[in-house]
Amino acid sequence: VTIDQLETPALLIDVDIMERNLQRMAAYAAANGLRLRPHTKTHKIPALGRRQIDLGAVGLTVAKVGEAEVMLSSGTPDLLVAYPTIGLGKLTRLMEVARRTRVTVALDSFEAARQLDEMAGEAEIEVGVLTEIDVGLNRVGVTPGPELVDLVRRIVHLKNVDWEGIAYYPGHIKKMDADGEAKMVALSDTVARAINDLGDAGYTARIVSGGSTPTWMRSHEVAGLTEIRPGTYIFNDRNTVNSCACDWEDCAGTILCTVVSTARPGQMIIDGGSKTFSSDRLTGSTEVTFGRLTTDPAARFHAMNEEHGFVDISQSEHRYQVGQRVRLIPNHICVAMNLHERVHAVRGSEVVATWTVEGRGKLQ
Ligand SMILES: Cc1ncc(COP(=O)(O)O)c(C=O)c1O
Repeated sequence: VTIDQLETPALLIDVDIMERNLQRMAAYAAANGLRLRPHTKTHKIPALGRRQIDLGAVGLTVAKVGEAEVMLSSGTPDLLVAYPTIGLGKLTRLMEVARRTRVTVALDSFEAARQLDEMAGEAEIEVGVLTEIDVGLNRVGVTPGPELVDLVRRIVHLKNVDWEGIAYYPGHIKKMDADGEAKMVALSDTVARAINDLGDAGYTARIVSGGSTPTWMRSHEVAGLTEIRPGTYIFNDRNTVNSCACDWEDCAGTILCTVVSTARPGQMIIDGGSKTFSSDRLTGSTEVTFGRLTTDPAARFHAMNEEHGFVDISQSEHRYQVGQRVRLIPNHICVAMNLHERVHAVRGSEVVATWTVEGRGKLQ
């Protein structure tokens, strides 16, 4: 089967680019003595998790229990749930996962740790815990200082959880420009302070888990970091290019669309809108566009309805006809993946495999 024979809209993954992205990150982690625990929220496909393990990842990361259940079939020796898992229902399911592979949860409250400890005790399973610290995203995580030390002190007294260390996510660093550089320095200081405060209180963090795709190349500069959890790097997207963490040639994910209307001068409508691309805007930019045409950057994909993409072609040198096909690099590939039941692995114009996005919609 060739790309021309696929129904559109279709999400395509260039397997050679993906493989290069995977190998590059694996080589970086190995060269810098960092454990790699990739976040699978980007691809949501167990076979790709398996590939990450085969290339040296120590385990995989998920956000939700539903994703953890799906990722079990990758055969991962270890799963980090990098999200506070709260409530009996979810924890009961998580214990079933923990019977089949080592599970660690990143959390930021004693209540979350207490619930996990109770359920782990009932299930007679030991579960790992990382204490989440806030390094500037202001999302989850306690502020390093007495609050962190106090939380760790209470967690280490719990019998069925093993306190392994700390976790953070530098999602506030969106681009490695001057502002990003300054934030990296501040981040490194914050992490060092957290490790020292804990050390002074007698607690040694065996694992310090952080990292992201925009900051991946600079992870080794964070003192004390032992592990990185990049997710987007497997495919990359427009935001990754904007963050300076990759080039256009490193974007493995594209969305194939058909031109369905050219009725209005200077405009074409493609058969993908917000239900195909996601409504994610470009981060750290005032530009309102939703994807980049691989062969025509002058065309502006500036508006969407659910199933219609509005492309301004008034500045383009190309002429488009109804039925013609175009490929676009989406702004945010992770959310786009979650919108597609199946995606196609391609090499050149050949479709080499079709993958089911098994973790799609697993929000619980
Ligand atoms: C907790 C956590 N860890 C790791 C990641 C991976 O980040 P990235 O996709 O930038 O590599 C994310 C992404 O949202 C995250 O929320």
